[in-house]
Amino acid sequence: MKVTSTTQSVTEIQADAVVLGVYAEAPLEGEADRFDDASGKLLSRLRERGEFTGRTAETLVLHGPQGMQADQVVVVGLGKKAALDRGNIFRAAGAAAKLLAARPRRSVAFLLGGDWPDVMVEAGVCGAMVGCRGQDLYRDEKRLHPLGEIQWQNASPAALAAGQVLGSAVNLTRRLVNEPASEIYPESFADIASEMAAEDGLDIEVWDEDRLHKENCGALLGVARGSARPPRLVILRHQRGGDAPTLALVGKGVTFDSGGLSLKPTDSMKTMKCDMAGAATVVGALQAIARLDLPINVLGLCGLVENMVSGTSYKLGDILKTRSGKTIEVLNTDAEGRLVLADVLDVAVDRGAAKIIDLATLTGACMVALGTDVAGLMTNNQSWAELVAGAARICGEPVWQLPMFEEYGEQIKSEVADIKNVGEGRWAGAITAAKLLEAFVRDVPWVHLDIAGPAFLEKPKPWQDTGATGAFVRTLVEVARRWP
Ligand code: BES
Ligand code: MN
Ligand code: ZN
Repeated sequence: MKVTSTTQSVTEIQADAVVLGVYAEAPLEGEADRFDDASGKLLSRLRERGEFTGRTAETLVLHGPQGMQADQVVVVGLGKKAALDRGNIFRAAGAAAKLLAARPRRSVAFLLGGDWPDVMVEAGVCGAMVGCRGQDLYRDEKRLHPLGEIQWQNASPAALAAGQVLGSAVNLTRRLVNEPASEIYPESFADIASEMAAEDGLDIEVWDEDRLHKENCGALLGVARGSARPPRLVILRHQRGGDAPTLALVGKGVTFDSGGLSLKPTDSMKTMKCDMAGAATVVGALQAIARLDLPINVLGLCGLVENMVSGTSYKLGDILKTRSGKTIEVLNTDAEGRLVLADVLDVAVDRGAAKIIDLATLTGACMVALGTDVAGLMTNNQSWAELVAGAARICGEPVWQLPMFEEYGEQIKSEVADIKNVGEGRWAGAITAAKLLEAFVRDVPWVHLDIAGPAFLEKPKPWQDTGATGAFVRTLVEVARRWP
């Protein structure tokens, strides 16, 4: 996708379609206002009649409007002007792009945000790139046709470049998640990460089974045991910050979660190719951080396994010895993500992480608590949590903090091992999972994002196709920009 800047007005611009932005409950501005004049107050009349209100991501298509070079105009709502943020912009631009992508377009001009700060233009470019790309990877007749060129009004070269970096990174994460588990398994995921690392100038280490054994990663290896696909641990490194502290991003990469012997029912298993979304988010974020050439040190760790059923599967009652030395009693093989992360978090700490964020499609319980659009945030360090939550808020990627009271930890004490991998019954399931993770980060400030809900859409949004969302790539990049 080509991304360019334009200073042409709505009446003179050459494009297949023009996108105009309108705020709710506010006078028309900029090119929308100019279009209104050129079209005999068409927009004003439509607004008076209530045909268009300007609510975020609302769209209206006008074909063959008077006095224009372009033969199609899409008007998109930006919400209330005072509430404008990167999230609204991402969604508005995405909605317009998705609508236009129903047919192939060579070039679409977004004549909005000509006076916005760079970070807002970035969010718009990113939203447009994400909105026009679908999950129709294997459909002959595509539902969405990525726009050939995106023109943005008065955009600085820096904003265009960064917007394109973010859009590509989010789409990389989405593609990794949308590909079926027959294509994406630990080895192939590691291969794709290696190709990306080579192209974008990141260091990469890939631990195979032998190395994982040598490193005593008994929890990760335990989960992997039932699969014909051997596990991997990917360690990506962006080292541009000299002696400054290292930020570690850790992702759950269960390339398929059948539940293991605690087998999932069909309906719950249908979308379990998405269980590596945390790892895919880490890969997307590291690509963006490398391309933006941020002057910092970042590690990205992806724990990659397939959770399967076979004669070699790990069993209920098994005791796994983690890399840290702590033992875990397995009472449900479907609570596998926390086992994988227990070892990966330990590696992150050993590699000198000053602070950690992990991302995982960890629990259905988190979706029961917060719904599908909000990630659960859990932490051992309130100020680090507030920094991460602040970055998420400014990017328009909602998170909500859940408590980590010591009492929750009682639920995962085991009679035969140090910890057990599920709590008593199903109450507070998102938190008891986080409590297990907490036991492996030692004293390092850590934030856990349970992205089971927001990582994968079962119903489309106006600004995005169903399937993988690439959620939290933008937030991680924002955290990196604020690091250390
Ligand atoms: N990968 C699932 C969680 C999940 C559920 C992700 C729905 C995305 C959508 C995880 O490994 C899992 O199976 N968790 C169990 C834990 C339980 C056995 C304690 C769950 O949430 O039911
Ligand atoms: Mn599971
Ligand atoms: Zn899982």
